[in-house]
Amino acid sequence: MTRSIRVAPSILAADFARLGDEVRAIDAAGADWIHIDVMDGHFVPNISFGLPVIEGIRPVTRKVFDVHLMIAPAEPYLEAFARAGADVITIHAEAGPHLDRSLQAIRALGKKAGVALNPGTPASVLRHVLDRLDLILVMTVNPGFGGQAFIPAMLDKIAELRDMIRGRNIDIEVDGGITAANAADVARAGANVLVAGSAVFRAKDYTTEIRAIRTAASSLAV
Ligand code: DX5
Ligand code: ZN
Repeated sequence: MTRSIRVAPSILAADFARLGDEVRAIDAAGADWIHIDVMDGHFVPNISFGLPVIEGIRPVTRKVFDVHLMIAPAEPYLEAFARAGADVITIHAEAGPHLDRSLQAIRALGKKAGVALNPGTPASVLRHVLDRLDLILVMTVNPGFGGQAFIPAMLDKIAELRDMIRGRNIDIEVDGGITAANAADVARAGANVLVAGSAVFRAKDYTTEIRAIRTAASSLAV
């Protein structure tokens, strides 16, 4: 099965003084999804932005809002993120004890349900919730900050997940340190959604960079 490659620039690396323009720019540059990193200063050691910012940029683009919640607890806020404009809502497996229930809650809101795994969390934690999942986000850095180096040991985890989900309609997303230089490696391992923050927003030309990531990943997609 060939799954289409999607590139999801993370607005964490955008110029926040011009956030609406930045979102318009990555939309025009060919971004498939807009990756939105919400951090609470508790689950991760950094605070980013939350609901009003998502509401504020929702009218700017029709692209999928891929909301990555690095917050604990997440469940009390799922409905608010759905209302704010999220299309995909991803929670962390480590963020609470009731993963299965939280995933059901996301789908009950009519949204796609994702689970993110920190680098130290094994793929096996998802074995019994696969029926609830639309997306698995493999953190390829420790969550909390943009601009960190890709952790190569995550390639094995991606491949393990690819085997685990075979035959199911579940996306595998990678997030952290993704560049055009390692896009082929993660795609070969089984990823089909590539988040890129610094690589896109620090590039001179967003279109060229998004295309470079997509082309590298597409040539080796599974
Ligand atoms: C990290 C975030 C990532 C981050 C990626 O906690 O989840 O989405 O913005 O940024 P880069 O691509 O710079 O590693
Ligand atoms: Zn993210």
